[in-house]
Amino acid sequence: MKSRILILGACGQIGTELTTALRQKYGNHKVIASDIREGDEEMMKSGPFEIIDATNYEAIENIVIQYEINEVYLMAAMLSATAEKFPSKAWQLNMNSLFNVLNLAKEKKIEKIFWPSSIAVFGPTTPRVNTPQHTIMEPSTVYGISKQAGERWCEYYFKKYGVDVRSIRYPGIISWQTLPGGGTTDYAIDIYHKALKHHKYICFLKAGTTLPMIYMDDAIRATLDIMEASPEKIEIRSSYNLGAISFDPEEITASIKKQLPEFSISYEPDFRQAIADSWPQSIDDQDARDHWGWLHQYDLDAITEDMLKNLGPKYKN
Ligand code: SER
Repeated sequence: MKSRILILGACGQIGTELTTALRQKYGNHKVIASDIREGDEEMMKSGPFEIIDATNYEAIENIVIQYEINEVYLMAAMLSATAEKFPSKAWQLNMNSLFNVLNLAKEKKIEKIFWPSSIAVFGPTTPRVNTPQHTIMEPSTVYGISKQAGERWCEYYFKKYGVDVRSIRYPGIISWQTLPGGGTTDYAIDIYHKALKHHKYICFLKAGTTLPMIYMDDAIRATLDIMEASPEKIEIRSSYNLGAISFDPEEITASIKKQLPEFSISYEPDFRQAIADSWPQSIDDQDARDHWGWLHQYDLDAITEDMLKNLGPKYKN
């Protein structure tokens, strides 16, 4: 039986840490990392790597055949803030890459898919507190529209063609290993870098902008768990709500000040404010908890402690 994993978009914020986690779990040679550009030294040294454009069906198919891949994690995407600047490019990347992978599974060339969705599938008409799994979804961003459409296609391919696709609506993901690119929740990462470097941060969202967030360790664990669960447990084939914690810029500032008392924040909201205002403040993820045992571990202070500990050495002197 084929038993190798392909990660598309392995050099991004999630892909980088997912590659490490999957290589640790299944063995380096079983996990083929790929992206449109080369990764860092660790990525290139620790196992097979291929340059692949996720919008190119033949390129993916060739690698699937060459390495006898049966599982694909599609992490390539354009995030919310960048997608507003390049709408058609974002649509093309986010949708074509998904169709490529779904069609490979439909044609029985691969057996299982992970595809990330996002809190961006919700919009201004969605109930913002404890946002339910099933609710009004009228996303107002290009990124959100692509994720919402993607969710519908995932469920369609599952129902029509039996494609085993699994998905999570990630909240904002906080991590220290790789910088995120082009998201609205990215302030919650940048703030730690600036706290260590300048002891102050100018935030592009205003005070009181509460958003759902998760630490990378929890996000990776959720991803591995949903992929390992037996198929009958995955009752939702669009995408699962996933919650961990929620906070606004003032609360993360207070958490950082516990360790760096001299730190201060000021506010200069830009176009990303409107994006954040259209998203939920907190998430009801009871289905993920009931169906496949999701449980988050990191609260805000634990995240702050780990972020500052790991980023600290980078900004010494
Ligand atoms: N973190 C993403 C963004 O801000 C949302 O999925 O775009």
